[in-house]
Amino acid sequence: MKRTNMTAMVTLTISAMAAIGSAQDMKMSLYERLGGIYKIAQGASNCVEMESADMMLLKNNNFKLAVSGAPQPLVKFGLTAYLAHIAGGPQTAFFDVAAYDQGFMLSRKDRDHAWDIRWMAFQKAGVSKKDFMELKAKYNAMFMKAKPMMAEKEKFMDQTSLYARLGGIAPISMVVDDFVNMLATDKTQLENPHVVKSLTSGKITGAGLKYLVTEQLAMAAGGPFKYTGKSMKDSHKDLAITEKQWGSAAGILKSVLDKYMVPAKEQGEIFTVITSTHGDIVKSGGN
Ligand code: HEM
Repeated sequence: MKRTNMTAMVTLTISAMAAIGSAQDMKMSLYERLGGIYKIAQGASNCVEMESADMMLLKNNNFKLAVSGAPQPLVKFGLTAYLAHIAGGPQTAFFDVAAYDQGFMLSRKDRDHAWDIRWMAFQKAGVSKKDFMELKAKYNAMFMKAKPMMAEKEKFMDQTSLYARLGGIAPISMVVDDFVNMLATDKTQLENPHVVKSLTSGKITGAGLKYLVTEQLAMAAGGPFKYTGKSMKDSHKDLAITEKQWGSAAGILKSVLDKYMVPAKEQGEIFTVITSTHGDIVKSGGN
C-alpha cells in the first residue's frame, strides 16, 4: 500500500474512533462523565477547603459567618449531594446550596473569583473543563431561580430516632470524617494489599467514601436519606478483609464516638447497625 493511502486510512480510523468515543460520551449522563460520586465528592471537598480558606471570600461577612458556623464535613456532604443531584445522579439534594449561595450576597467580582476556585478544585479532582462548564451551567440555572436563604438548624421529624438523638447529619458527617481518615492511615488496614490497591486505584476517593458512609449511616439511623452506593457485599468482596482488620476498624470507630462524647446507649445502637454488615464485609475464613 502506498504511504499516502496508509496515512489516509490511519487518519480515517482515528477519526472514526473519535466519533464513536464522542457518541458514547453523549450517551453518558453528566454524572457519569464527571466520574460519578467519587470524583464529584473529591471536587466538592477540594472546593470547600479552598473557598473556606480564601482571604478574598472571607472578607464577605455572610460567607465568613457560614464558614465558622458549619463544620466542613457537613458542608462537603451537602455540596456533594447537591452537585451529584443536579448532574443527574441518584442522590437527593438535601441542602439548597444555590439558595445559601444567594444568601451570601457576593459581589460580581467575588462570584467570578469563587468560580475560579471551583474550577481549580474540580480540575484537581481530575474533571475536564468541558464537563465542569456543563456542571457550572446547571448550577447557575438553579442559582438564578433560588431565593436567598441562611442555613438553619436541622429539624427532626421523629425526635426519638437514633438519627435525632445523635444530633442529625452534622455530627454524623463529623464522626465519619474522622473514622475514614483514621481507617485510611491505620497500619492494620494498610497491611492488606487489596485495600491499598483499591485506595490507590484512582477510582476510589476518600471524599467519596466519606460521602457514601455518611449517607449509609444517616439512613440506617432513621434520617431522611437514601443510600446510593453499592451493597456491602459487592463493595468489599475483592478486599479479603480479615477479623483483625474488622477489630481494628471497630476500635477506631469506638475512639471517634468517645471523642465526640456519643452516649453509651447510642454507641450501642450504632454498633448494632455496623455489626449487621460483618458477614458481608469480612471474608469468611479471614483471620
Ligand atoms: C473493616 C475495615 C474496612 C475496610 C478496610 C474498608 C475498605 C473499603 C474500601 C477499600 C472500599 C472501596 C472498595 C472498592 O474498590 O470499590 C470500601 C467501600 C465502602 N465501604 Fe468499606 N471498609 C471497611 C469497613 C466498612 C464498614 C464497617 C462500613 C460501614 C458499615 C463500610 C462502608 C463502605 C461503603 C459505604 C463503601 C462504598 C461502596 C460504594 O462504592 O458504593 N466499610 N470500603
